[in-house]
Amino acid sequence: MRILVSGASRGIGLEIVRALAAEGHKVLALTRSGSPVLPGNPRVQTLFADISDPATDYAALAEECTREDGLDAVVNNAGALLNAPFDTMEAEAVQYLFEANVFGPMRLLRALKPRLNAPAHVLNIGSMGGVQGSAKFPGLAWYSAGKGALAILTECLAEEWKNDSIRVNCLALGAVQTEMLQAAFPGYNAPLSAAEMGTFIADFVQNGARFFNGKILPVSVSTP
Ligand SMILES: NC(=O)c1ccc[n+]([C@@H]2O[C@H](COP(=O)([O-])OP(=O)(O)OC[C@H]3O[C@@H](n4cnc5c(N)ncnc54)[C@H](OP(=O)(O)O)[C@@H]3O)[C@@H](O)[C@H]2O)c1
Repeated sequence: MRILVSGASRGIGLEIVRALAAEGHKVLALTRSGSPVLPGNPRVQTLFADISDPATDYAALAEECTREDGLDAVVNNAGALLNAPFDTMEAEAVQYLFEANVFGPMRLLRALKPRLNAPAHVLNIGSMGGVQGSAKFPGLAWYSAGKGALAILTECLAEEWKNDSIRVNCLALGAVQTEMLQAAFPGYNAPLSAAEMGTFIADFVQNGARFFNGKILPVSVSTP
């Protein structure tokens, strides 16, 4: 399969890339960072772009990543978290979170959709905080709201794209030990490593669309 993974430079995204490449898939690793992802790995092609920047040339990005062939799957893994009380979070910070967690992933999908090989799987990486009725945590209002929007967009796109043979799902992750989690909850020890979650997501993006479409699936063994 040819699979694009965003937010590929570290954390869960890097581990998704590693797991997919190890299984022999061609991985397009999308990153804002200036460094190649898993340099020297012939199955990994790094694409440099910032999906949270509305000025990104999405048409050029889509052209670059599908020059050889279309895509079989997209993992919208890139995301940003700011932990700050609702009362003090400035509009710029809210905008930053929504660009990274909602608008950027949707711009990417709009650009890539014509280049998806049917049947294709779009997998959005959400959060337990973005699931209705889940435990909520102070400081994560706008992050959780953005992930909630991503989850609902998942359901909507699955409906709109079902006749194009594109399946769309959202994995709502619980705590995973990454730099993002450390920054948000210093000292918290998550029950899962980035490598464990990356391996699970790599498997799900290949096989999950046979069993699920338009679903928001909690992937959590803990709270948060
Ligand atoms: N760790 C957890 O406990 C947890 C729980 C629930 C959900 N998640 C979700 O899982 C995904 C991966 O998170 P992670 O824990 O691996 O976090 P991470 O280590 O911070 O990695 C997230 C990646 O997203 C990209 N990114 C960060 N800020 C961005 C911005 N402003 N604009 C565009 N891209 C940005 C970066 O990739 P590049 O620099 O390569 O572009 C970064 O490496 C995220 O969507 C996150 O919300 C994580």
